Amino acid sequence: MSQKRKVIKLATVFSGIGAVEQALMRLEVPFETVFACDNGERHIDIDYDAEMKKIRKLSGAKEKKKYTERLYEKKSRKINFVKQSYLANYKIKKDNFFEDVKLLDGTDFNGNVDLFVGGSPCQSFSVIGTKGGFNDTRGTLFYEYARLIKEIQPKVFIYENVYGLTRHDKGKTWNIMQQVFSELGYHYTFKILDSRNYGIPQGRRRIFVVGFKDEAAYKKFKFPEEIKLKYTMQDFLEDNTAPGSLQSVNGKLVKVNKLRGKPEEKYYLSEKLIAYCLSPGTKNFMHAGAKIDLPVARALLSTMGNLHRSSVNNYVTTNGRVRALTIREAHRLMGFPDSYNIVVSKAQAYKQAGNSIVVDVLINLAREIINAEKWNK
Ligand SMILES: C[S@@+](CC[C@H](N)C(=O)[O-])C[C@H]1O[C@@H](n2cnc3c(N)ncnc32)[C@H](O)[C@@H]1O
Repeated sequence: MSQKRKVIKLATVFSGIGAVEQALMRLEVPFETVFACDNGERHIDIDYDAEMKKIRKLSGAKEKKKYTERLYEKKSRKINFVKQSYLANYKIKKDNFFEDVKLLDGTDFNGNVDLFVGGSPCQSFSVIGTKGGFNDTRGTLFYEYARLIKEIQPKVFIYENVYGLTRHDKGKTWNIMQQVFSELGYHYTFKILDSRNYGIPQGRRRIFVVGFKDEAAYKKFKFPEEIKLKYTMQDFLEDNTAPGSLQSVNGKLVKVNKLRGKPEEKYYLSEKLIAYCLSPGTKNFMHAGAKIDLPVARALLSTMGNLHRSSVNNYVTTNGRVRALTIREAHRLMGFPDSYNIVVSKAQAYKQAGNSIVVDVLINLAREIINAEKWNK
């Protein structure tokens, strides 16, 4: 007799291009998105406290969402490109994509979320206070994340952030954040995970906090074991693979076929980036047998255009040559298979990929959470 699998009720904030959604899809775990929320880095000038008071009085999430959207329409002419990417890739009712975490009323979703995921942008930490506790984080996006946990009461949450967070303000910020997680009444644990230990040849260390409402599930949970790296960065380059060849099979990225013939030779890099590539400390992407030597770099400098993008350290070396990563390669190196639809401009796509969580890390983490919660039984 076949058993029906649990459909995980997922909610995300700072949703970006949906790394956790990708992870669950790759694990072939059924899930339903209760809501996603991302303002596409558009910032509006309003009195948030006053607006939130008004929003809380409206009846139902739909009304509240409409109100927020109207505020954004009035105050910002910019387009939400993150929303465009998200809607082009994931099944979600339009009514369930929210603009701004600061204007999201979590009480509408109380008790209706299994897994709540978010990584607040790190620039907001500088204002965290010194006394400690929940209210001392007010005015930060971390506060909004914690507030939403309090209001929604998800079974499990995952909070992700840059590794440097633990050292910010001599560790004080991180101490306060830990205090907040404890005040929320969750059993939580944290670890720094590096994507190069979870199948992706990119050095990217991030802190992951996992909180459980249920103590038994918390006790059962362990962070995923590290995996020996099978691929090199070269395996992810379009020079070496046919377009559309990085596919997802049973939770793993699989290279389907190699590109035959001469790779396209286009190299764009800024002088600044070359200097960066040549500096001894540059190890963010692992280089596979390719070295950029000084004469090659100097020759390139004279011919190169200017295509450096921030957010992703997007240089590659192929047999001593240097060029920027293509947008598809940037997504591959964040664990997104070629089936991921890129629907925004190159500039936006680089930025969105660079902001994401590496999918393969989340695949391994989500698998452990699902086992601990027995959601697969
Ligand atoms: C570091 S990125 C996280 C991306 C995400 N973890 C992913 O997997 O793609 C931060 C995201 O927060 C969004 N953001 C910033 N301020 C926000 C706000 N007030 N409300 C909602 N989203 C916001 C940004 O647009 C950006 O996509």
